[in-house]
Amino acid sequence: MIVPKLAMTSTGVTEVAAEAVVIGITQDGDSVGLAPGAEAVDAAFGGELLAVLRTLGATGKPDEVVKVPTLGRLSAGMVVAAGLGKPGADGTVSAEQVRRAAGAAARGLTGVGRVVTTLSTVDLQAAVEGTVLGAYTFDSYKSESKNGTVSRVELASPADGTTKQHRATLKAATAIAEAVATARDLINTPPNDLYPASFAERAAGLGRAAGLEVEVLDEKALRKAGYGGILGVGVGSSRPPRLVRMRYRGPRPRAKVALVGKGITFDTGGISIKPATHMEEMTSDMSGAAAVVATVVLAARLKYPLEVVATVPMAENMPSGAAYRPGDVLTMYGGKTVEVLNTDAEGRLILADAIVRATEDDPDYLVETSTLTGAQIISLGRRTAGIMGSDDLRDRVAAVAKATGEGGWPMPLPEELRGDLDSKLADLANVTGHRWGSMLAAGIFLKEFVPEDLPWAHIDIAGPAYNNGSPWGYTGKGGTGVPVRTLAALLADFAENG
Ligand code: BES
Ligand code: MN
Ligand code: ZN
Repeated sequence: MIVPKLAMTSTGVTEVAAEAVVIGITQDGDSVGLAPGAEAVDAAFGGELLAVLRTLGATGKPDEVVKVPTLGRLSAGMVVAAGLGKPGADGTVSAEQVRRAAGAAARGLTGVGRVVTTLSTVDLQAAVEGTVLGAYTFDSYKSESKNGTVSRVELASPADGTTKQHRATLKAATAIAEAVATARDLINTPPNDLYPASFAERAAGLGRAAGLEVEVLDEKALRKAGYGGILGVGVGSSRPPRLVRMRYRGPRPRAKVALVGKGITFDTGGISIKPATHMEEMTSDMSGAAAVVATVVLAARLKYPLEVVATVPMAENMPSGAAYRPGDVLTMYGGKTVEVLNTDAEGRLILADAIVRATEDDPDYLVETSTLTGAQIISLGRRTAGIMGSDDLRDRVAAVAKATGEGGWPMPLPEELRGDLDSKLADLANVTGHRWGSMLAAGIFLKEFVPEDLPWAHIDIAGPAYNNGSPWGYTGKGGTGVPVRTLAALLADFAENG
């Protein structure tokens, strides 16, 4: 992860020593418009900037980036106009529109070192997050790294608020964007290098550096304590499983929050093996774990007045002579028994163990996230997470997810699906015998391991965690870091409102 240096600037945007000036353009009816912050740039063009942009075919639509040479009209050599899309009914653009435009501009700036942006005058936090995330690249595995991305960003100040407030916003937004980048780095690391033990080591290193209490259970410790779900899934791999616990204790905590994330470092499906096509994408099956690790570290960095404990099960799901089989019965942590009917429904098995362990701390809230079901993608598409759990917390998470721009939608846990998880042998089976409502059935399975009165949420990020299509907004190819920003905003909400 290379994060550009960011600083507020008080120098006029036409004079700052930079190679490019980023401005926002909007889609106003049939025509392109200038977003606030672009006035000085327009003046340097003698008020003809829109005419120039129109000539170049600019429309202001999302993901559009149009570059205009300045030929000495301002100190920067080019203007980069980034499309914000249509303003809302009140004439303003949303934070997410700014974030995406800043991201698209940053993606279009490879090879440019120093940039000044005016999008920060519209929304400082969104401009910072969008710029850092749009500039994100992962080239650790290229023998030669390409034209670096943006190394320094000057931010024009918003009209309202004090310099002190702007600095605080910049600091928080940078920390949040870096947390997303940390999650992306973990996801993008290939499965031959990121396996349970190495993932645990990296998580522990990040945690210790942030001053967290860290505990790593290896396979021996897992066996001793009876983590049958994690061990059952992990036993088929030559790389044994781990359970990582990371605790942040903030000043005068307003709430105790348990975070749980699925850490399958590679999911072949096991004996119920997956088809070969796109199996390589299952390197991202630890995205939930990456998000909660990054979030608990962020909580410490931002000193939230909370206690946050991340419980992160890590295993590799492989077929082998030692692997668990369809038909096996596992005794989970805490004693419940599960009949395995499909070894590809492994996430819920490691999560059940982790959830039971997490609830032993007696948290006020439990939030779990995982790339749990292909059915999430069938139901909601690649960009909208499915949010389940107890009614109030589920809706609170959904509201926060919407506000951050990551998106997510509340989904039910229909009671009648519980019967379909009945097992003739054990307390329950890990799958229903049918395909209907598979995302919800997985949620129902998890619910069995959550105490009745504990507010909890399950965020299925099978689609949103990983971008296997073209880059868009501030999202490049590969790991997206979703739902780090939702979790961060949720913690901020708990810190403020309990
Ligand atoms: N990791 C997968 C879910 C997944 C699929 C994530 C596609 C991202 C993209 C999970 O372990 C899985 O295999 N789920 C099965 C469950 C089924 C066997 C009930 C699925 O969704 O097919
Ligand atoms: Mn699976
Ligand atoms: Zn999986």
